[in-house]
Amino acid sequence: MIWSAQRAQTPALASPLVTRVFSGIKPTGPVQLGNMLGALRTWVEDQHRADSFYCVVDLHALTIPQDPEVLRRTTLELAQLLLAVGIDPTVATLFIQSDVSEHTELAWMLECTVSFGELRRMTQFKDKSDDAEFVSAGLFTYPALMAADILLYDSDEVPVGEDQRQHLELTRDIATRFNSRFGETFVVPRATVPKVAARVMDLQDPTRKMSKSDDSPQGTILVLEELGQVAKKIRRAVTDTDNEVRFDPVGKPGVSNLLSILSACTGGDPAQLADQYDQYGPLKADVAEAVVEYLRPIQERYAELAADPSGVHALLAAGADRARALAEAKMITVRDRLGLPVR
Ligand code: TYM
Repeated sequence: MIWSAQRAQTPALASPLVTRVFSGIKPTGPVQLGNMLGALRTWVEDQHRADSFYCVVDLHALTIPQDPEVLRRTTLELAQLLLAVGIDPTVATLFIQSDVSEHTELAWMLECTVSFGELRRMTQFKDKSDDAEFVSAGLFTYPALMAADILLYDSDEVPVGEDQRQHLELTRDIATRFNSRFGETFVVPRATVPKVAARVMDLQDPTRKMSKSDDSPQGTILVLEELGQVAKKIRRAVTDTDNEVRFDPVGKPGVSNLLSILSACTGGDPAQLADQYDQYGPLKADVAEAVVEYLRPIQERYAELAADPSGVHALLAAGADRARALAEAKMITVRDRLGLPVR
């Protein structure tokens, strides 16, 4: 597949008239349906109405131990997958985080403005560190790097799933505090969380979110998984004890999760969709079909891109050039505000 890198070579000027969107995804583990419906789906829509920056956040992956070869491979594969899901590099800027060193530079400065107490309150840190043998300092300061990603680009909106909302609140606090202490520097961004499927739940344990980690293979649908397997997992999804189809995420988490997935894939409203079913079997069959048909074209495009990855490198380099132009300009202001030499 050939992409025109023309648009991406022109550095965009931050314009107050254009909404700027920024979001990121970690190259750790295979992309699952939650990533797709909670975030990437919105990324694809947003790129047509906003100046959108999408980033494979490889530096965030380093917060947990990584095999260098695996990280190199998964970073490229994730970029290919983002293209396959519909990110269009002729309208959006797609790049790898570590290609733009300003992310780490700003992260350090922000780390020095955020308190230990604020970082300690982050529930994702608690979840990820609780049973870990090794907890890196980077895992703890992770939200400051995420804030740097967003604030570097004067981002107005950040499309994310529900689990990132707390990090976005912290980013807003960091930006507001910096602005009041050092003068107007950063745009205060807002999270844009989808109305449905903002938190896709595990199919086997619908009280926990679906995640990339491989401790619930039957409960997790991978975007690149064999489609027969996808359908099987949905048909075996845990539902609730009675046989009533009703959208009630608290009282009926299993069925409501399936209705949310169906709604995200087909566009209907989950409560109205529920009215069409009086048994679990037909609901599961329709969800399975909807997800399979949703994933099929993505898998086909991914196979084409994977067969010839040469263009992807050039396109990522062009994306990084465009991102760097904005990031460098922002860092001149930030350094100046902080009393550091301006290069
Ligand atoms: P990550 O890589 O864990 O996930 C990428 C996106 O997928 C969403 N997501 C889900 N949405 C619904 N249901 C689920 N079960 C589900 N699982 C994951 C996440 O909310 C996310 O939007 N810290 C971020 C990456 C990041 C970032 C950024 C995001 C780094 N810098 C700047 C936005 C802006 C993360 O770990 O996402």
